[in-house]
Amino acid sequence: MANVVVVGSQWGDEGKGKIVDWLSERADVVVRFQGGHNAGHTLVIDGVKYKLSLLPSGVVRQDKMAVIGNGVVLDPRALADEIGRLAEQGVAVSEANLRIAENTPLILSLHQELDAIRENNSSADTRIGTTRRGIGPAYEDKVGRRAIRLMDLVNLNTLPGKIERLLVHHNAIRRGLGVEEISAQTIYDELVGVADKILPFMDKVWYLLDERRKAGDRILFEGAQGALLDIDHGTYPFVTSSNTIAGQAATGSGLGPNAINYVLGITKAYTTRVGEGPFPTELNDEIGQFLGERGHEFGTVTGRQRRCGWFDAVLVRQTCKTSGISGIALTKLDVLDGLDEIKVCVAYELDGKRIDYLPASQGQQARVKPIYETLEGWSGTTAGARTWNDLPAQAVKYVRHIEELIEAPVALLSTSPERDDTILVQDPFED
Ligand code: IMP
Repeated sequence: MANVVVVGSQWGDEGKGKIVDWLSERADVVVRFQGGHNAGHTLVIDGVKYKLSLLPSGVVRQDKMAVIGNGVVLDPRALADEIGRLAEQGVAVSEANLRIAENTPLILSLHQELDAIRENNSSADTRIGTTRRGIGPAYEDKVGRRAIRLMDLVNLNTLPGKIERLLVHHNAIRRGLGVEEISAQTIYDELVGVADKILPFMDKVWYLLDERRKAGDRILFEGAQGALLDIDHGTYPFVTSSNTIAGQAATGSGLGPNAINYVLGITKAYTTRVGEGPFPTELNDEIGQFLGERGHEFGTVTGRQRRCGWFDAVLVRQTCKTSGISGIALTKLDVLDGLDEIKVCVAYELDGKRIDYLPASQGQQARVKPIYETLEGWSGTTAGARTWNDLPAQAVKYVRHIEELIEAPVALLSTSPERDDTILVQDPFED
């Protein structure tokens, strides 16, 4: 019995898709536990490309159960679109292979609209650079105890009262922003319009997961975004609105933390970030541009260019602690091929003092300066390597040094987008 959580250990876009796909082939149940359709990844299976955003990766494979946990915020229209796109590719999503927690809060069109209005109204230094999917406003309503949850669509007699309560809040905000108010009828029609499409998937997810656990099934928890975008432990306020660290797998699904056996942190061999916020090792020079071009660093959801920089071991060591990472999957090492020298951030300087952590204060995060170690690059290629012997000696040195600095072992080394181009050190399901 082994249940595995996969999380991004940086700011998202670490290359989770390939690793999660590899693991989901070996899992029985794949669970999303936070975020929503702000996430996005592409799976390539037998030469066919599938773009997933909200649905757990397992959904494209036969005989896997895909589960959306209560920690997710669910946009029913986005779900219906995604299911429709998969159907066109011959992938059937039905009640048999997709279950959604009854207590999952819904993203409504008013959330998406509010997200966009706020971003448009922000100044350059307060803008978050969100994906404009309504994620933040939907989580606000959840915590404010006024969200419409999936189960609320069951009883249409009690739904109007819930909509009224929601609109007291939203129309006050809309008046303040000078935006037209929304009628209860508009929201009611929106919800009734999608109810039939999503209610068949509704389930008691905590119960279902417990049953599957007792049956000895392998459960894979698929995190979205990355640990540095965590609402509590990330670079607040430049974060997403959910907990992205591994502990959320338990709260966002209802399976208790003692059922989790292994936490795999997906880690890119350098650093990227999309959206605003601090980024100590960012490179605004030709090396940053080189990493972006070689690494195809453009967002899958918004198409935005990602900011690029050197590997920051301070940050990854910290996220290894906050997520309890058992081992990492190191990705995109080949992007560094051919560089004469490679820098790694090993500590920060803050106001003349050396520190080995990212401070929580926004002001201090903006002031930290990276302290680098410089390693020799390698001239050969790491792309496509399948054993350690295929790697140039300096590349092995780089990987070993990272392990030491972040205090976590490499469990997998991914050397190209192809699934077989992977060096497996430790199978998380077999740990
Ligand atoms: P939100 O999640 O749309 O509210 O966006 C908040 C922050 O998280 C922004 O900086 C986004 O760019 C970032 N973000 C959200 N989802 C992802 C993701 O899947 N990958 C990388 N960054 C993300």
